[in-house]
Amino acid sequence: MDTHEAVLLKLFVLGILVNAWMMSSVSGAETQEAPRLRRVCNESRLQWEVEVCGEHFKKDMSLIHPQHWCNLTHFISEYHLFTLCTESKSHSVDCYWPNPLVEGYIIRIHKAFFSNCSDEQVVWVDPPDETLITLILIPIFLTLAMITLVVWCSKRSDILA
Ligand SMILES: *[C@@H]1O[C@H](CO)[C@@H](O)[C@H](O)[C@H]1NC(C)=O
Ligand SMILES: *[C@@H]1O[C@H](CO)[C@@H](O)[C@H](O)[C@H]1NC(C)=O
Ligand SMILES: *[C@@H]1O[C@H](CO)[C@@H](O)[C@H](O)[C@H]1NC(C)=O
Repeated sequence: MDTHEAVLLKLFVLGILVNAWMMSSVSGAETQEAPRLRRVCNESRLQWEVEVCGEHFKKDMSLIHPQHWCNLTHFISEYHLFTLCTESKSHSVDCYWPNPLVEGYIIRIHKAFFSNCSDEQVVWVDPPDETLITLILIPIFLTLAMITLVVWCSKRSDILA
């Protein structure tokens, strides 16, 4: 039974080592190739491109009666297109998405169209925020899980030793 556990423990540690090695080689490859492959985000171009998205959105919204501007069902597809537009434009000018510039612009659009909507009227499920939070939380959880595993494994090997 003890040897069985020891084998499992070794497999666990090996798994962590392989994982850490893979992560370090992946991030190593990224830092080495980043200057060659990844061009820098041109913020002035991004600003311009995002405003083009905004103009399309304004045009689409003008076709909807202002009376319906607080009703998400009436403009969800236009809003979705606008979000997609900011995403594809960000990538086309080598910027990450979401980014502070795009978020600032989206807030301006919200102020222009939805400032008079009460909270009950529009229930915002903001895709950029959601994506951002997910993107932030996943590595944190992974790191915590790794630390827990490492601590647990070292405790186990102390007991076994
Ligand atoms: C960013 O784009 C603008 C407009 O296309 C250009 O004039 C400017 O030189 C670019 N800046 C950089 C740092 O590439
Ligand atoms: C929003 O519009 C839809 C479709 O016209 C309608 O069924 C719904 O009752 C509206 N919701 C509100 C809160 O006005
Ligand atoms: C919000 O209400 C104010 C005052 O009634 C009005 O001037 C403004 O145009 C409205 N804005 C929107 C986006 O409906």
